[in-house]
Amino acid sequence: MKIIVNPLELKKYLKENNKTIGFVPTMGALHDGHITLIKEARKANQLVVVSIFVNPTQFLKGEDLDKYPKKDEADKQICEMSGVDVLFFPNANNIYTEDEVSLVAPSIRGYVLEGNSRPGHFNGVLTVVMKLLNIVTPTNAYFGKKDAQQLNLIKLMVKQLFMSVNIIAIDTVRDSDGLAMSSRNIYLSKNERAEALKISSSLYEASKLISNSILKVETIKDGMKKILNPLEIEYIEILNREFEYLDSVEIGNTIILVEAKVGKTRLLDNIWL
Ligand code: PAJ
Repeated sequence: MKIIVNPLELKKYLKENNKTIGFVPTMGALHDGHITLIKEARKANQLVVVSIFVNPTQFLKGEDLDKYPKKDEADKQICEMSGVDVLFFPNANNIYTEDEVSLVAPSIRGYVLEGNSRPGHFNGVLTVVMKLLNIVTPTNAYFGKKDAQQLNLIKLMVKQLFMSVNIIAIDTVRDSDGLAMSSRNIYLSKNERAEALKISSSLYEASKLISNSILKVETIKDGMKKILNPLEIEYIEILNREFEYLDSVEIGNTIILVEAKVGKTRLLDNIWL
């Protein structure tokens, strides 16, 4: 596996290879969710590129940028064992200068939910993803459904800016007890981890209600709130796949999203129905 820090060096290397490229952008502290994305990329492309870059512009002041988990050596080994060809490991000054062109998330879909609780977050995500896609110019780029709003906005960006990459969405990978895997799960104490299971349980409750033909959004949200109690709920939303609000669940076109705080840790989860 080749490790490259410099974007221009990576561009040159990939151009010389002239192969189909599968790309998995990450912020490191790799877990089975990331590994599943890498394996999907491995199946369908000649070259697999993974980036590890904790992108400063998507963290708000006071968020966990400085303590975001770093596991560089373990991450390198995981990439090597998962069949990655090139690991792109830039520093912030390889990616950003002082005064920059940047992208702004679209006003409606970028400012609800996660965009509302973390204003500016998606501008940073879109800007870095655009930079990374321009550096790697992949055939296919892999993103998790776990970050459903991020995925939706990246798909919009690719479509609206006429980019030529295919965005491939991968199902959420969970621990055996149902907790969606996340690099931030590391912050949870033993008790908090047990409490965090209320998040996936609330989604299972929603799918149970729906399979009993209860489709009204407000009724489902009430059922979920009971399970989530006493966690601090940032939002519960039931939207269609275009991220528009619904009054009633439309089977085959609905996403139910939850963000809740467990102690100081903000956790996201969702199901696609
Ligand atoms: P990060 O949180 O490291 O996630 C990298 C990719 O892994 C994202 O596409 C995310 O949706 C996916 N992922 C995370 N947990 C997952 C799980 N349990 N199952 C399946 N996929 C999962 O998301 C980011 O980094 C950043 O915002 C990034 C896109 C790299 C831009 O900086």
